Amino acid sequence: MDTRGLTIHSVENAQGFELGPSDPILGAPLRIRLRDSVDSVTVRYSTSPSASGLQWLDPPQTAGKRHPFLYTQSQAIHARSWIPLQDTPGVRVTFTATVHTPDGLAAAMGAGRRNGTFHMEHPVPSYLIALAAGDLAFRPLGPRSGVYAEPALLPAAAREFEDTELMIAAVEEMYGPYRWGRYDLLVLPPSFPFGGMENPCLTFTTPTILAGDKSLVSLVAHELAHSWSGNLVTNATWSDFWLNEGFTVYLERRILEKVYGRDRAEMEAVLARRELDREMAQLAPADCRLHLDLAGRDPDDGCTLVPYEKGALLLRTIEQSVGRPRFDAFLRSYFDHFAFRSITTAEFLDYLRRELPNPVPVEDWIFQPGIPEGAAEPHSDAFARAGTGWPSDTSRWSTQEWLHFLRLQNPPDMPRLDREFRPTQSGNSEILHQWLLMAVKTGYRPAYPKLEEFLCSVGRRKFLKPLYTALMETAEGRELARRIYARARPGYHPIAQATIDAVMG
Ligand code: BES
Ligand code: ZN
Repeated sequence: MDTRGLTIHSVENAQGFELGPSDPILGAPLRIRLRDSVDSVTVRYSTSPSASGLQWLDPPQTAGKRHPFLYTQSQAIHARSWIPLQDTPGVRVTFTATVHTPDGLAAAMGAGRRNGTFHMEHPVPSYLIALAAGDLAFRPLGPRSGVYAEPALLPAAAREFEDTELMIAAVEEMYGPYRWGRYDLLVLPPSFPFGGMENPCLTFTTPTILAGDKSLVSLVAHELAHSWSGNLVTNATWSDFWLNEGFTVYLERRILEKVYGRDRAEMEAVLARRELDREMAQLAPADCRLHLDLAGRDPDDGCTLVPYEKGALLLRTIEQSVGRPRFDAFLRSYFDHFAFRSITTAEFLDYLRRELPNPVPVEDWIFQPGIPEGAAEPHSDAFARAGTGWPSDTSRWSTQEWLHFLRLQNPPDMPRLDREFRPTQSGNSEILHQWLLMAVKTGYRPAYPKLEEFLCSVGRRKFLKPLYTALMETAEGRELARRIYARARPGYHPIAQATIDAVMG
C-alpha cells in the first residue's frame, strides 16, 4: 500500500508488515505479509498534522467563525496521506466508513449514506475518496440533488446552484443515466485550493463561485460532467489525465449550451482558447502533449490547461469532422463500454479507431506538442459584436464579456477603467482576479489594499499563482509578495502552500 506521513500502529491478522524508505513524492510503501488464505487485515494508523490531503481549519477560517472545519483533497496522490491504500487511479475500491465528529459538527462524504454510515457501492479510484466535517447545513435543490454549506452561506449557495437538476437532465439526455444516486454539492471555506473537485455523489466547491448571478456555474457543469468522464470512465494513470479533464471540459460546454444557450458556451470556449495559447507559450514543448511524461515528477505538475483545453479542443475537432449526432452516439457508447473502469490513452485510441473512424490526426494531437492544423475554432458573436474599442453600453454585460474586455486592454488605462467600471469593488471573483492581475502588472497602487485582502482571504490556487508570479517580477512586487505571503501562508492549504513556495523561490 501507499502511505505518506502515516504512523502505522499495527496490522492485525497479518504475518507481519514493514514501512519502506520514504520517497519525497511517493511516500513510503507499506508492505504487508498476508497469512495463507486470509483476505482481510486491519491497519491501525494515525495521520500527521501536515498531511497533504487534509486541511484542518481554525474557526476564524470559516464563514461562521465559531467551529473548526476539516476537509480532504485526495487528487492526485494525496489519499495516501490520510488512508493507507493502493493510490493509483488504475485500482478501484468500494468502501464503508463510520465517522465520529464532535457534538454539533456534521460529517459528509462522497458516498451514499445509510443509518449514519457511508457506503460507496461502485468501485472508485482512491483519488475520489473524500470527507468533510464542520458546521454544515443542507438544503435540497431537487429530488436527487442538494447543497451542503455553513448555515450563513446556504441561502446564497442554493440560489446560485438552482439549475443543478436542469444540468443533470441535460447530460443524461446526451450521454446516458446518472449512475451515482444522489448529486450534492458542498461549499467549502475559501482556502479550498481548487475551483471544484468531483468527489462522487458530492462535488466539493470553492465559495468564490457564489457570484450571485450564476455567472460562474460552469464549474458545477464541469464537476457534474466528471460523473461520466472521470468517475465512470477514469484515467488509468496520471499521464492519461486528459481523458478525465479534456472530456469533462467538452461535456461542460455542451451542458452550458443546453442550459444557457450557445452564446454562453462559446464565450467560455473563446476565453479558454486564448488562455490555452498564453499558457502553452510558457510551457516546455513536452508538456504541450496530451499524453504526459510524468516520470520522476509529482502528478500535480501535469495539471495545466493543456489536458483541459487542448483535450476539449481535440474532441470538438472530431465532433466537427464527423458531425454532432455521430459524435454524441460515440461518446454515449464510450461511457457505457468503459463504465466503472480505468483506461489508458491507448485503450481510448483503439476504441476510437474501431467505433468512429475519422480524418483528424488524433495521434499528433496526443503525442505532439502544439495545436495541429484543422483544429476547430470557437467563435463568440457577442465578443465580435463588442469589437475592440471602448464600450458605450455595458449595462447588460455578462461576466464573460467583462473578462474578454479586460483581457483585451493593452496597455490598460487603469485609472479610467477603475473610475468608470469600479472593478476594485467587484463582487465577482473572476473579474476581481483579472483586475488585480492587471493592477500588479501595471503597478496600479490604488488596488493594492484589495489585492492584499484577496490574497489573505482566498486560497484558490488558480487565483494565487498568477498573482504571486506577477508580483515576483519586480523588486517592489517581490517585497510586497513576501510580506503578504508571510501573513497569508498559514491559512493556505498544503497544496497551495507548495505551489506558492515554488513561486517564491
Ligand atoms: N479534478 C479537478 C481538480 C484537480 C485536478 C485536483 C488535478 C487535483 C489535481 C477538477 O475537476 C477541476 O478541474 N477543477 C477546476 C475547475 C474547472 C472548472 C476547470 C479548478 O479547480 O480550477
Ligand atoms: Zn475537472
